[in-house]
Amino acid sequence: MVLRPGFFLLFNLLGVLAWPTQFPERTTPSELLDPYPHKPRITFKDDGTLKITVFSDLHFGENPWDVWGPQQDSNSTRVMKRVLKDENPDYAVLNGDLITGENTFRENATRLIDEIVAPLNAARVPFSSAHGNHDNQVNITHAEEIAREQQVAPLSYTRFSAPGVGGEGGAGNYWVPIYKRKSDNAPYLIIWFFDSRGGVTPQNKPAADWVDASVADWIESETKLMDEVWGPGEQRSALAFVHIPPHVMQPVQKTITPEKNPGLNADVLGTGSAQSTSSTSPPAQDTPFWDSANKNIKNIVAFISGHDHGNEWCAREPTKDFVFCFDKHSGYGGYGDSSWGYGVRNIVFHAPGNGKGKPKVESWIRLEEGQTRAHVWLDHTLGH
Ligand SMILES: *[C@@H]1O[C@H](CO)[C@@H](O)[C@H](O)[C@H]1NC(C)=O
Ligand SMILES: *[C@@H]1O[C@H](CO)[C@@H](O)[C@H](O)[C@H]1NC(C)=O
Ligand SMILES: *[C@@H]1O[C@H](CO)[C@@H](O)[C@H](O)[C@H]1NC(C)=O
Repeated sequence: MVLRPGFFLLFNLLGVLAWPTQFPERTTPSELLDPYPHKPRITFKDDGTLKITVFSDLHFGENPWDVWGPQQDSNSTRVMKRVLKDENPDYAVLNGDLITGENTFRENATRLIDEIVAPLNAARVPFSSAHGNHDNQVNITHAEEIAREQQVAPLSYTRFSAPGVGGEGGAGNYWVPIYKRKSDNAPYLIIWFFDSRGGVTPQNKPAADWVDASVADWIESETKLMDEVWGPGEQRSALAFVHIPPHVMQPVQKTITPEKNPGLNADVLGTGSAQSTSSTSPPAQDTPFWDSANKNIKNIVAFISGHDHGNEWCAREPTKDFVFCFDKHSGYGGYGDSSWGYGVRNIVFHAPGNGKGKPKVESWIRLEEGQTRAHVWLDHTLGH
């Protein structure tokens, strides 16, 4: 339950002093839709724009017993500092595989979160995280990373999945409201974060590598509540982050071209590259999530994934007609090739001048040194 000073005062004025037992048992719908009562509202800038910068696959903590592992981490910190200074984003996203959990120690694994969030804390940039298969390992879990992040990053908007939602290892399904102006009654954009799990359980058993079916029902009930309180979903935009790409993207890779889908395309999507495709997974287990997201969330500008470090392209998935983009590998850790470079994906929303209607959204890759490439508009022109 959310406790607000104003509410408490009102109760006192009414002479209801037996706090807290006199509070209503259930939170109201508008309270359920105000998940950050004690944090600043995230808003567009006065000029009607919002810039989101996505760091992906940072892979901190590799081989701490060698020289190169810690060097990689300090290189990744350098990338983050430089990019945050140059880009000055309104919001940042860490899109999974923050940590290479295979190399961590039970007693200090979450200390890596402190290192990862330090540049974001210093730059005072609000942000939140999705989690990846390397964040679920014997000595680390998504839930442990989230708890630590909440503890050490005052501007973290990362939340835990609602009770019963997300399945084993899927602790991070949530959304973040973004408002056009601070005083608006309803958000203009909802950023959704879905937990595609993967990796191994703390008992060293393979973990399911797809968004759990329980998330499908949760999406339906959350969007229903949003429609009731804020008005029809068509009035809002949405953007979605999920670390492992949905399995439906696998065949799409065969249809892309460098002209229509600019950006590095160096990772062929094979076993384990997309959700529910690893050797231990039955196929297409992400379908309930996928169907529910596409049906219930209106105006999804794009689904954004990392995981496949050699891919940067955006493409349109034809059967459900949505836009999908890969991130840019940001960390010096994790597999890769130095010729691929390290960087971020930027996403910029432009709200229309009259304050009504859908935003125009552009996106591109920015490399560590400042070079940019693969610019696209995330709209009907993409892939045509
Ligand atoms: C760290 O970055 C420097 C400069 O780009 C590079 O020469 C070096 O190989 C990187 N170190 C590691 C361990 O990745
Ligand atoms: C987990 O941490 C323990 C305690 O530090 C360590 O002995 C063990 O090797 C780690 N296990 C794995 C799989 O990383
Ligand atoms: C965790 O402990 C190990 C073993 O003492 C050490 O090598 C490593 O650097 C520590 N990691 C962090 C993030 O503190």
